[in-house]
Amino acid sequence: MGAKPAPAQQGQNPQLIQLGRALFFEDDLSSPSGMACATCHAPQAGFTYPESDTNQLTGTVPGAVAIRYGNRRPPTISYARFIPQGTPTFDSRANAYVGGLFYDGRASSLADQAQAPLQNPNEMNNLVHNAGSPALIVSEVQHGPNAALFQQVFGPGVFGQSSDSVFQLVVKAISAWEASPEVSPFSSKYDAYLAGKVALTAAELDGLRLFTGSTNGRPGGPPFTKNAECSSCHVLSPQPGQGPDLFTDFHYYNIGLPRNAQNPYYAETDRTADPVGYNRYGEGYVDLGLGDFLYPLQGVVEGDYLGIKGAFKAPTLRNVDTRPSPTFVKAYGHNGFFKSLPQVVHFYNTRNLTAKQGEVIDFTKSEPYAGLQGTPLWPAPEYIGAPNFGSPITMINPAGLATGPGRHLGNLGLTPQQEADLVAFLRTLSDAPPPPPSGGVRIVRKPGIRIEVSTNQK
Ligand code: HEC
Ligand code: HEC
Repeated sequence: MGAKPAPAQQGQNPQLIQLGRALFFEDDLSSPSGMACATCHAPQAGFTYPESDTNQLTGTVPGAVAIRYGNRRPPTISYARFIPQGTPTFDSRANAYVGGLFYDGRASSLADQAQAPLQNPNEMNNLVHNAGSPALIVSEVQHGPNAALFQQVFGPGVFGQSSDSVFQLVVKAISAWEASPEVSPFSSKYDAYLAGKVALTAAELDGLRLFTGSTNGRPGGPPFTKNAECSSCHVLSPQPGQGPDLFTDFHYYNIGLPRNAQNPYYAETDRTADPVGYNRYGEGYVDLGLGDFLYPLQGVVEGDYLGIKGAFKAPTLRNVDTRPSPTFVKAYGHNGFFKSLPQVVHFYNTRNLTAKQGEVIDFTKSEPYAGLQGTPLWPAPEYIGAPNFGSPITMINPAGLATGPGRHLGNLGLTPQQEADLVAFLRTLSDAPPPPPSGGVRIVRKPGIRIEVSTNQK
């Protein structure tokens, strides 16, 4: 099945959406109970994790069961309704894979996706004998606070159906709400600017110009003094009105994100050796992103003939700065390595540099770190990929070598002012008024997890 555009959200039954919202916020749908979808995707944090300390310390988040953390951090669910559905397919025009939900495209639709966290041992943990159990989830709905609403929407006899059928209705409702305008409202300052209702500040406007490389803020417009090449992956439509600006092309790239050593997931082990652990590789785990999904699907066990190992879906940047207070810390990147937007932008600007003035790390070499004179400014990428970067899918390139989008990534030559302008622009993408807080949803507290914080992360 190929990636096709997600269906336009239209004329959905308002009661179905209301039910979906209620189920998204229901914290009885985990085992043990206490964790809702909204526990990890909270509106006030731009539908990401609402605990600043966790974002700061680990970046990834605990599940419903004590001490189990996931391998990745919760991305936003806002604008997820626009993610092209289906299994990721190769887009020859962009020379990259596109489509599918999750960082690695392994879910083909919102409804398909919603089945996963409910049954993930590191998340809502509805398992019986170590296997995901729709029957357990249906029983939680049936005995939970939203049972009556569920029957109103699907009929009084709904719980008499097979649990597999009812489970499909549960995820149907959740995904209907996720596809509603409440989750993707296009109500940011940037949207008001496009509509001619507000002006951007000088810094925000210069940020937009840097982002797109164009003075009019539309890709392909008259060139600005500097192009930070962001919009080659976090795309805007070429003209306003040609479709919404979603700030992603939904393609998969490797931006060279370092490993997040603070992820407690590394301390988990094979569940045969350690019943609470669900990480086969322990400390040796490397997240190969799209490669971890597509190759097993194709039966490929070795190598990287498509150049997709280490590639992750480019996220929307809408709501990337939405947070409950200015001092609240959000984690960024698939593993939560980054802790602030200035840090992300500085990474894009300097990833390939070392402390020695003028020295550039050449990631096309098989040993990019050999013979360097200065200390690299950033830890090594979690996965560097094949030394031959004929394929721009793997985007770790020294200046000028690749022909693909974002080819100067890692050595953009931005001034500190230009970095700050880009951040100012990203802050215009928060939907307003801020979404209501996820009142009532408890954050499950984990006893006994030992968190070591190193201070060497920039
Ligand atoms: C314990 C935290 C946690 C809970 C609870 C949780 N999620 Fe997530 N969610 C994540 C993480 C982590 C990812 C990314 C995982 C990956 O890409 O492998 C994710 C990804 C997603 C995505 C994909 C977004 C994209 O850009 O592709 C959607 C949609 C989503 N979650 C919806 C839900 C729904 C619906 C529920 C409840 C049924 C839920 N989540 C419960 C942590 C959580
Ligand atoms: C080659 C494509 C590409 C280019 C060019 C690019 N990005 Fe990204 N961006 C990505 C991908 C892919 C990710 C997710 C990477 C991961 O998690 O491993 C990402 C992640 C991010 C994030 C983190 C978002 C989150 O929710 O975690 C921010 C912020 C961001 N990019 C901003 C920018 C800015 C600003 C620029 C320009 C300086 C830029 N990007 C250029 C592909 C790109």
